[in-house]
Amino acid sequence: MSWYGEHVLPRIVDLTCGGRRMEPVRRPALDGLSGSVVEIGFGSGPNVGLYPAAVERVLAVEPSEGARGLAGKRMAGIAHPPIDFVGLDGATLPVDDGTADAVLSTFTLCTIPDIDAAMREIVRVLRPGGALHFVEHGRSDDPAVHRRQVRFEPVQRRIAGGCHLTRDPAELAEGVGLQVEDLARFRLQGPKILTTMSSGRAVKP
Ligand SMILES: C[S@@+](CC[C@H](N)C(=O)[O-])C[C@H]1O[C@@H](n2cnc3c(N)ncnc32)[C@H](O)[C@@H]1O
Repeated sequence: MSWYGEHVLPRIVDLTCGGRRMEPVRRPALDGLSGSVVEIGFGSGPNVGLYPAAVERVLAVEPSEGARGLAGKRMAGIAHPPIDFVGLDGATLPVDDGTADAVLSTFTLCTIPDIDAAMREIVRVLRPGGALHFVEHGRSDDPAVHRRQVRFEPVQRRIAGGCHLTRDPAELAEGVGLQVEDLARFRLQGPKILTTMSSGRAVKP
């Protein structure tokens, strides 16, 4: 990973996605989490402190050492749930088949390079009845906005650590046989290409 990706980008993401302002956006994705949770793209740990009490442990996957360093500060002094960094890539999860009660992804499905492999991994590690909980930005239903997303995506990928603008989390989940529930689509303030949001759960049958 480049110096920019390792040291600058995690701080930008922490400031833009990790602040108090974004807590109401994150919380619905964390609602109902329990047991053993695999969090992909743990980042600087903005969900630390927001996990429901029923979460027993978090297995964190995050490639950026810079982000993991920032997360360490957030995790200091928080005893529950225990959080362990177990891997570097959502596309190869070091987690046994069917052992996760949930997988959590907040603003990460846009970024994982091999998203198809990552989606297969999510299905593999979830137990039957377990769910992917997500809140993500993604593809707009508005054709004019979508055209702008397609045009700007190469730039976004360069400046934002590989972040795609045109992925659709619900479509990705359905593509691997997960059943999408409680899907909410909404917009945040800001440039339309970046602020088309989806939040929900995708259950493994
Ligand atoms: C936009 S940030 C979101 C961070 C955090 N989840 C949040 O809610 O703010 C995307 C994160 O995905 C991580 N990431 C990039 N490639 C990844 C991969 N292959 N597997 C897992 N995470 C990855 C990045 O390092 C970054 O921390």
